[in-house]
Amino acid sequence: MKNILLLGSGGRECTLAWKLSQSPLCGKFYIAPGNAGTGAYGINLPISYNDFEAVKKACVDNKIDILFPGPEEPLVAGIYDFFKNDPALKHIIVVGPSKDGAQLEGSKAYSKKFMERHNIPTAAYKEFNVDSFERGVAYIKRSEPPIVIKADGLAAGKGVVIAQNTIDAVKAFRAMVMNAQFGEASKTVVIEQFLDGIELSVFAFTDGSNYVLLPEAKDYKRVGEGDTGLNTGGMGAISPVPFADDAFMKKVKDRIIEPTVKGLKDEGVVYHGFIFFGLIKVKEEPYVIEYNCRMGDPETEVVIPRLENDLVELIQKMADGKLNEVTVQHSTKAAGAVMLVSEGYPGDYPKGRAMTGFDKVKGSLLFHAGTTVKDAGVVTNGGRVIAITSYGDTIKQALEKSYENAALINYEGKYYRKDIGFEF
Ligand code: AMP
Ligand code: GLY
Repeated sequence: MKNILLLGSGGRECTLAWKLSQSPLCGKFYIAPGNAGTGAYGINLPISYNDFEAVKKACVDNKIDILFPGPEEPLVAGIYDFFKNDPALKHIIVVGPSKDGAQLEGSKAYSKKFMERHNIPTAAYKEFNVDSFERGVAYIKRSEPPIVIKADGLAAGKGVVIAQNTIDAVKAFRAMVMNAQFGEASKTVVIEQFLDGIELSVFAFTDGSNYVLLPEAKDYKRVGEGDTGLNTGGMGAISPVPFADDAFMKKVKDRIIEPTVKGLKDEGVVYHGFIFFGLIKVKEEPYVIEYNCRMGDPETEVVIPRLENDLVELIQKMADGKLNEVTVQHSTKAAGAVMLVSEGYPGDYPKGRAMTGFDKVKGSLLFHAGTTVKDAGVVTNGGRVIAITSYGDTIKQALEKSYENAALINYEGKYYRKDIGFEF
């Protein structure tokens, strides 16, 4: 039996909590800080996951065996190294990469250079900073729009601008580099070629040498129907992805996943845990748009329900370097998730709105995202409020069930996209 501490408070963490708590190998189970949903699967601890000393104390006090950071922030800030360098913590299994490995997500410039070194297909790019600003402007002027401008560091999902013309591109570039729009994160900027294709998310779980593939997924990032409007953290997701057929996935494995895992190993980068490949299919060819060092949200809400293996056992195999002994079993059912959000999201939104209707939901899984408990009731506490996931023989059937139940959960200012999975 393993005592587990899961870090995070979103729909991803609620899904992971649901899954981990089902394992016969799961001992005492804690989530920090968690939400109103995770409380059903374990004990919520009111600590911030960015406060490593508080996380340490929780691990020591509760005799934790496995630390599972859900979001990227603590990983990019080096929680793995913090644990491995502390005699009181170093025996704890950390599900995630070292600080160096997390740079795959923490620095776009690092990940682009990594891909270049290992010949991994990605958009052509150049990197600029304050000192090379004028050269950056010249590069933009030579480029064919649309032009993609990316802040190097973490910018809470807002650091990417797709400019339709040179003037807007220069404006975005100037705001990031000269006016420090995203602070330190945009001191360096990557300018890259626009790739025209369809996106999907692929997840590998690695022990540093071997890897297993989880079911692939597609998320719906735009707030508006028909993929319009502002980018969000994700308004819904589906799995499997119909266009990710065997021939395409073979290319993904051969050209992207294997060179990535091998490249990290060859360079001596310590990497255990999830690698999230944000991919784009251009004609029949896969390219990497981005790497993340964690699971996706809301992809987790459809990927994990389709994973039939025991997740604690997979984590133990990862820690033992024995993922080569594992065969991943996927459900043949499709899964579809619809995210209910707060009015105003991804801009400003209200919090504390009372939620009702949970008891009416039938045939779907509810994964809380931005919720909390107040006066013994559940209230909204974030932009993305709750994910409703269903299984079905087809994606369409799964989503029909999720939509039936989406209508039954109520709070003031509820909004959700009615067209998740519209292409399939
Ligand atoms: P990222 O934060 O790198 O995932 O970028 C956010 C979103 O911007 C992606 O999900 C894509 O929709 C889009 N994007 C990023 N880079 C490119 C690119 N080179 N070509 C086309 N779209 C892109
Ligand atoms: N759904 C995209 C992400 O988790 O970054």
